[in-house]
Amino acid sequence: MPFRKIYAVVAAAALLCVADKAICQVNTVDVRVNALLAKMTLEEKIGQLNQYNGNWEATGPVSQVGDKIAAVKAGRVGAVLNIMGTEHVKAFQDAAMQSRLKIPLLFGQDVIHGYSITFPIPLAQAASWDMEAIERAERVAAIESAASGINWTFSPMVDIARDPRWGRVMEGAGEDPFLGSKIAVARVKGFQGKGLGSPDAIMACAKHFVAYGAAIGGRDYNSVDMSLHSLWETYLPPFYAAQQAGVATFMNSFNDLNGIPASGSSYLQRDILKGKWNFKGFVVSDWGSIGEMVSHGYVKDNYEAAAVAIQAGSDMDMESGSYIGHLKQLVTDKKVDVRLIDDAVRRILRKKFELGLFENPYRFIDAKREQTLLYTPENLAVAREVARKSIVLLKNDQHLLPVTSGKSIGLIGPLVKAKRELKGFWSLNVNLGEDIPSLMDGLHAQLPDAPLLYAPGCGITDSSRAGFEEAVAVARKSDVVIMAMGEAPDMTGEAKSRSSIHLPGIQEELIKAIVATGKPVVLVLMAGRPMVFDWASEHVPTIVYAWWLGSQGGYAMADVLLGKYNPSAKLPMTFPRSEGQIPIYYNHYSTGRPPASDTDRFYKSAYTDLLNSPRYAFGHGLSYTSFAYSDLKWERTGKENIKVSFQVKNTGDYAGEETSQLYIHNIVSRPLRPVKELKGFKKVFLQPGETKAVTIVFTKEELCSYNEKLEKVVLPVACQIMIGSASDDIRLQTATINNIFSEPL
Ligand code: BGC
Repeated sequence: MPFRKIYAVVAAAALLCVADKAICQVNTVDVRVNALLAKMTLEEKIGQLNQYNGNWEATGPVSQVGDKIAAVKAGRVGAVLNIMGTEHVKAFQDAAMQSRLKIPLLFGQDVIHGYSITFPIPLAQAASWDMEAIERAERVAAIESAASGINWTFSPMVDIARDPRWGRVMEGAGEDPFLGSKIAVARVKGFQGKGLGSPDAIMACAKHFVAYGAAIGGRDYNSVDMSLHSLWETYLPPFYAAQQAGVATFMNSFNDLNGIPASGSSYLQRDILKGKWNFKGFVVSDWGSIGEMVSHGYVKDNYEAAAVAIQAGSDMDMESGSYIGHLKQLVTDKKVDVRLIDDAVRRILRKKFELGLFENPYRFIDAKREQTLLYTPENLAVAREVARKSIVLLKNDQHLLPVTSGKSIGLIGPLVKAKRELKGFWSLNVNLGEDIPSLMDGLHAQLPDAPLLYAPGCGITDSSRAGFEEAVAVARKSDVVIMAMGEAPDMTGEAKSRSSIHLPGIQEELIKAIVATGKPVVLVLMAGRPMVFDWASEHVPTIVYAWWLGSQGGYAMADVLLGKYNPSAKLPMTFPRSEGQIPIYYNHYSTGRPPASDTDRFYKSAYTDLLNSPRYAFGHGLSYTSFAYSDLKWERTGKENIKVSFQVKNTGDYAGEETSQLYIHNIVSRPLRPVKELKGFKKVFLQPGETKAVTIVFTKEELCSYNEKLEKVVLPVACQIMIGSASDDIRLQTATINNIFSEPL
C-alpha cells in the first residue's frame, strides 16, 4: 500500500476514534491486520487457514503430517486443537514464535461442559432453563481453560435436535428454537466474558452450521433434507442469536443439506452468515469436512474440495489438509482468486489481534495461574448448583420423594456406584486424580449413619439375571429402594446414534423384579438423551432424570433425593413412548385431521398402535411443592411489545422454584405456524403459601415468521396466549386475540 494511502486510512481511523471507542478498536485492528497481510507470502497466508490436531485426543482421522512443530515453525499452521496444559501449549507457541512473521497460534479445544471441573452435559444444563446458571457454568469453563492455555472453544453446539436416536443430542439445548436461542446467548456470554482481550475470555464457536441435528433417521453424519421454511424457522434462529451475541467463530457441519455439503455451501456461509447476518468472525470447517466432500460425491478430489470450500466461505480447514495441500496450486491455476484467501486470513488475524495475542502470545500461558485457577472449591460449588438445577423430577406419585430420614435405603442398579461415568461424553481428562462422588457417595455423605444396602443387580448391557436374587433380597430388607439405571456414557456423543433408545440390556427386567417386591421404588435414570422406558413410566411411582451431571453429580443427586434441593428443571426435549414416534416435538403443526384426544384414531393423524401424546412433554418437570396460577392479563406496550402478567402461588409444603412458560397458541395463521410456540419463560422462587406476580414480555420481532418467499411477516392472524407449567400443562389462557400487533386496543 502506498504511504499516502496508509496515512489516509490511519487518519480516518483516528478521526473515528475520537467519536467512538469501539469503532476505533475495530479500525486499529483492521489497519494492523492489513499491514501484516501485506508482508505475508501466499504460503504464509495459506498456513493461517490450516488447523492441525495436536498429538493427543482425536475425534476423527488424523492427518499424517510428520513433525507438526516443524510445520508451525515454517508458518504452515494457523491453529491447533487438542493441546491442553500450559506446558504443551507453550511448546507450540514457542514454535510459532520462531516462524518468519511470528504469528501466534490459536489453541482450540472442545470445552463442551467444563474443562477441569466437569459440568452437567449441555442437554442437562438446558433442562435448568436457568440462563444465569448456564452462563456461570461457561464462565468457569472459560476461566479454567484460559488458565490452561486454551483460547478457543468449539462450543456452543446450538443445533436443534428432535431425534433422540442422534447421539449428539447430549451436546445441545434440545428441540426448541426459542429456548435454544436464549441458551446460545448465555453460553456465548459465558465463554467470551468481558470480551476478547480480557485474559479469561476465550473465543466461542457456534456449531454446526447448519441443520446437522436433522440427520435423516437420527444417524450421525447423515444427509439432511429440509424445506427452507423449516431451516429459517427452526434451525437457524439459535445461530442467529449466537451471532447477535457476538460469537467469534462458527463451525460448519458434516452433513449435506438439500444436496450440498455444508462446507461447500455458499448459500449458508456467504449469503446467510457473512452476507445477510454480516458476520465478521471466521468459519472453521468441521473435522475433515472439507476433504469429506469427496466422499459425499460433491467433488472429485481434495484439490476441487479446497476450491469449492474457500469459494463457499469456509475460512479454516480443520484437519483435512486440503487448503495447505492445494490452495497454492489453485491460485497458480487461476481457479481461486487470492482475494478470497486474503479475506479468510484477515478474519483469522483479526481474532488473533482481538485476543491480544500479538501483544503477548503467551498471555494464556501462565503455569502459576493454571495451578491456582483449576478445580477450585468455589467453582466446584458452582458445578454442584448447576447439577442440582439440571435434575428433572418426571414423576412423584405417592410423594416418595424427598426420602425422609430414618428410612433404610436399598440401592440397586448398575449406576449406583458410577463415578467417572457421571462425566459423560465430551468430558476432558484434565484432572486425572479427580474423585467424583457417586450417587452412593452422595447419599452416604448426607446420611453417614443410615444403613445403605447395595446390590448392582446387573450391568448396563448385561443379559444375565445372575444378580437379580441378591438385588431382590436387598429390596426386601429396605424401606425404600433407589434404583440407578441408564445408558453407558459413551452411548451418546459423536458417532453414537442408536436405533433403540430403550434401557439397554436387561435393566427393565430388573426394574420389574424389584417392583414385584411391592417395595416403594424411586428410579434414577442417567443418560445423555431422552430414553424410552415405557413400562417403568407406568409402574414405578417416582422417576428422576439425572442425565450425566459431572464432577459433583453424586452430591447433586443426593441433594434432590433427600430434599436439600427442591427440583425445578423442565425437559428441553420431548420424551417419546416408543422410537416409532420419532421425530416428536411439541411445536408441530395441527394437520387437517388432528386427533381430539389421546386415543382418537378414526381417520386422524395418529398411530393405530400407540397413544397420541408423548411420554413426557417438552417443558415437563415436577417439584416437591405445587403451584397455582391466576389473574392472567396482557397488554400492548408501545408498538413492539406485549406484556403478560399473572400470579403464581406456592400451594404446597416446600419452598420451591417454578418455571412458568408462555406459549402462543396459533389458531389461524398464514402460512401455518405450530400449534404452540414457546415465547417466554420465567423462574420464580416461592416460600410455602407465598404468591408472586410474574411478568413476561415478548416482542413483535419474536412473533415474526417467514412467508413462502422467506420474507419476515408478523403472524399469527388469531392466537391465544397460554401460560403453563409445561407445554402439556397449560394453566391459564386468554380469549382469542385477532392480529395481536395490529388490532386497535
Ligand atoms: C466434531 C466437532 C468437534 C471437532 C473437533 C468433530 O468431529 O463434529 O463438534 O468440535 O470434531 O474435535
